[in-house]
Amino acid sequence: MNAPEVVAHRGATAEAPEHTLAAYRNAAVVGADAVECDVRMTRDGVLVCVHDRRIRRTSNGRGVVSALRLAELEQFRFGARRGRLDRWKDDEIIAVTDEPDVENGRVLTLDRLLEHVTSTPGVVRLAIETKHPTRHTSRVEHELVRSLRRYGLLQGDRPVEWAGKPAFRVMSFSQLAVRRIAALAPGVPTVQLIGKRLRPVRGELLSGSMTAVGPGLALLRSDPAFVAQAHAAGKEVHVWTPNTAADIDFLVSLGVDALITDHPDEALRRLGRG
Ligand code: G3P
Ligand code: CA
Repeated sequence: MNAPEVVAHRGATAEAPEHTLAAYRNAAVVGADAVECDVRMTRDGVLVCVHDRRIRRTSNGRGVVSALRLAELEQFRFGARRGRLDRWKDDEIIAVTDEPDVENGRVLTLDRLLEHVTSTPGVVRLAIETKHPTRHTSRVEHELVRSLRRYGLLQGDRPVEWAGKPAFRVMSFSQLAVRRIAALAPGVPTVQLIGKRLRPVRGELLSGSMTAVGPGLALLRSDPAFVAQAHAAGKEVHVWTPNTAADIDFLVSLGVDALITDHPDEALRRLGRG
């Protein structure tokens, strides 16, 4: 059984506010294999690294990302630290804290993250998650592919390889988004994230062309046999978001392929790599 890859969820978010270069730098410093990043499209078609539909949890501003232009987003200060790391699924509003400024608090664009990652190629790979792709028809995927090409990460229809592995992969809860990426660049590894609604159609799901499936930890707690079924169907299993030693040990015992965690340092320690 291979040891799972360690992926820093939204950067090393236990160390720095999510989706900031500080969090991504920390992920590389602790030795994470990859970093996870959520992308959304602004009103003027720029991909930015923001998890929520609205910006008020992670900035001092208000509004919906897709309704704001980049210049408008740049007026706000981003980098608010989340209140409780184990409640990352909640939509509750957490008061913006007065964290020290990170990259001047400017919203992180995907291009800026790609520039950072490619400035030291091979150090840390990327797991990019597209959010709400239908809002912009296929513009999100087209723009994503364009950016990846611009930074030399996508050549032809395949990612460049760093240490024998693809430099990036693309994930989404949306089956439509995963299919769009596969159509635009068939050599790109894709991860079909699994939310509650996909559970009943597991057989159909596992017959798709994605490289991996991405269930939440809770799904595997109630249904650990899913890992073996996915492997039998030729799919890797990338799991979000194990944040405790017990979670990590449980997933390692199941033989999953990637741990997407807020605590990459803890995961690396459990795997004997820290
Ligand atoms: O990596 C998958 C995981 O990030 C999905 O959940 O809400 O953190 O984007 P979320
Ligand atoms: Ca995500």
